[in-house]
Amino acid sequence: MKSTFPLFPDSASALSHDVDALYAAWVLVSLFFTVLIAGLIIFFMARYRRRHPEEVGQKERAALWLEILWSVIPLGIMLVMFAWGTRVFFQLYRPPADAVEYTAIGKQWMWKVQHPDGQREINTLHMPLGQAIKLKLASEDVIHSFYVPAFRVKQDVVPGRYTSLWFRATKTGVYHLFCAEYCGTEHSRMIGSIIVMEPRDYENWLAGGTGGKSMVASGSDLFNSLACVTCHRASPGITQRGPSLEGVFGSQVKLADGRTVVADDNYVRESILNPTAKVVAGYDPVMPTFQGQITEEQLTQLISYVRSLGPTGAAPAGGSGGTPTAGTPAAGGASNTSSAQMDANSPLNTAGQTTGSAQKPPQK
Ligand code: CUA
Repeated sequence: MKSTFPLFPDSASALSHDVDALYAAWVLVSLFFTVLIAGLIIFFMARYRRRHPEEVGQKERAALWLEILWSVIPLGIMLVMFAWGTRVFFQLYRPPADAVEYTAIGKQWMWKVQHPDGQREINTLHMPLGQAIKLKLASEDVIHSFYVPAFRVKQDVVPGRYTSLWFRATKTGVYHLFCAEYCGTEHSRMIGSIIVMEPRDYENWLAGGTGGKSMVASGSDLFNSLACVTCHRASPGITQRGPSLEGVFGSQVKLADGRTVVADDNYVRESILNPTAKVVAGYDPVMPTFQGQITEEQLTQLISYVRSLGPTGAAPAGGSGGTPTAGTPAAGGASNTSSAQMDANSPLNTAGQTTGSAQKPPQK
């Protein structure tokens, strides 16, 4: 970060070198052909210049082998770029099985982050070194974009659906977080920092915070307080008005209209906000919508709870469908007994706030 002439941002994630290598290769290939073509133009200008005013040009036919050569070689280069780029792309967008899920919600003009065990912060993300982190991203208003140059990751945050990205930090330090999608007057101030800490320091930091309930515990509370439990209670032998949610997450769900869908984040989200869109086979469309009654943060908590009912949450099985499997966020050290659930509208906690503002990197 102290380089006098920084061509590149810091390289601090497991994949940043792959991205840089790909980028460097493209620059080199482009450079090579730019120099070659420009050089040949200049050389031919001199070599085949008109030598006296009456000179008339004559037709030249390029040899067939030459034509084939200069078609096949660029094709080969393009195919290599395609394969290489695809490989890096898949690595960037497929979180590893051991990734722990954090949530970041964009709103004009801040990032609200929640850790799996309940810790919240604004415009700051404290994270342990070496741990793969999957960020589930949602927006409360317009499109934002979560961009961490040092990790070489950028992902649009779109209202009405979940997107995600993942990274594994390889260097401790404080890194820029930007919003990379113009989102209103204070877009340029929608910045923050990613603070990568040694795992032990991170544990200390977590322990020093006011904590709060874990995502799953908060979701479980909501499940009761919103009365979801009255219809979705698991009770063997008795048919409820709604399907039991045990073991649903990550599984294939048969719908009333004959389709089959995978119960992932976006499916559960839609089923809460627009319950009649995908009614489970064998049930009536009697569920009311919770649109407007539940915040984005509460939605993510509810979904964490539904996931914890398994099977994906209970036993992180490798590769079922395209849904990346996150570790169970239920466990973890901070089983904070005393502190009540924090108000969803005031997600600041003192630790995050002070650290955040104290360590905020200089703007630009
Ligand atoms: Cu949010 Cu730009």
